[in-house]
Amino acid sequence: MHERSSIRDHVAIVTGSTDGIGLATALRFADEGAKVAIMGRDPERGSAALATVTAHGDAIFVQGDAAQKEDVDLLFARTLGTWGRLDILVNCAGGFVEVSDIEGLDEAEWEKIVDWNLTSCYLATQAAAAPMKEKGYGRIVNVSSISARDALANVSLVYSAAKSAMQGFTRRLSVELAPHGITVNAVAPGVTLTKRFRLVHQERVPQIVANLPVGFGGEPEDIADAIWYFSTPGSGYVTGATIDVNGGQYVN
Ligand SMILES: NC(=O)c1ccc[n+]([C@@H]2O[C@H](COP(=O)([O-])OP(=O)(O)OC[C@H]3O[C@@H](n4cnc5c(N)ncnc54)[C@H](O)[C@@H]3O)[C@@H](O)[C@H]2O)c1
Repeated sequence: MHERSSIRDHVAIVTGSTDGIGLATALRFADEGAKVAIMGRDPERGSAALATVTAHGDAIFVQGDAAQKEDVDLLFARTLGTWGRLDILVNCAGGFVEVSDIEGLDEAEWEKIVDWNLTSCYLATQAAAAPMKEKGYGRIVNVSSISARDALANVSLVYSAAKSAMQGFTRRLSVELAPHGITVNAVAPGVTLTKRFRLVHQERVPQIVANLPVGFGGEPEDIADAIWYFSTPGSGYVTGATIDVNGGQYVN
C-alpha cells in the first residue's frame, strides 16, 4: 500500500463504536493495520464489538459515555497507556430518539441531545489536542449528518442544531490546529442502514430508500470509507471540509 494512504500502526479512538457506523469504522481501521480503541455505554455490546474487531486487528474496549468527561479521560488514559500515541480521533457518538416540534421540545431533551452529539465531540477533541500537538500530527473526523446540511422535517430539531454546531466547530478548529499538522474534517451521512435505523423506520425503509436518487441505501461501510480517507496521512491538504455521503439526497 502507498505510504500516503497507510494507517498501519497508527492509533485511533472511535467514540460510539460498539455498533453501526462507529463499529464499521473500527473494523476498517483494524483491517488497515491500525490499533483501535472502541467506546460505548453498554458493556455487553462492547464485549461483542471487541471480539469482532480483535478478529481483524489490535483493539481495546473502554466502557463509558462519550458525553461524560471522566469517561472520556479514562478512554484517553487507557489508549495512551496501551499504545503510547494517538494519531486518529473519530467523533462518532451521537443520535436522537424523539422528533419534537419547537413547543414540544423540553429542556431535558435539548440537553441530552446536545450532550450526545456536541459535548461528546468537544470533550474527546479537547483530550486529543495535547497528544496530537506534541507529535505534530493528527487526524480528527467528526461524524455530522445530512440534517446539518439540509432542512429535514422528519429529523429531531435539537439534533439538527447540534450537528450544525459540529460543522461550525469543525471549520473553526481546523484553522486553529492546522499549524500543528492536525486536520479536522467532517463526514455528513444521509440514510445509513444500521440496525438502529432499520428498527426505528421498520416498514418505511423500502420507501425511504426508493426516494434516494441512487435508488439504494448507504451501509455503515460507505460512511467508514469517507472517514478512512480523512484519517490517512495523504489527506493532509484537506482540512475544515465535509464529505456528504448521502446517495444524492442533498447536493450542495
Ligand atoms: N444511521 C444514520 O442514518 C445516520 C445518519 C446521519 C448521521 N448519523 C450519525 O452517525 C453516528 C453513528 O450513528 P449510527 O447510526 O451508527 O448509530 P448506532 O446507534 O447504530 O450506533 C451508535 C453506537 O454509538 C453508541 N453511542 C451513542 N451515543 C454514545 C455516547 N454518548 N457514548 C458512548 N457511546 C455512544 C451507541 O451505544 C451505539 O453502540 C451518530 O453520530 C449519528 O448521529 C447516522
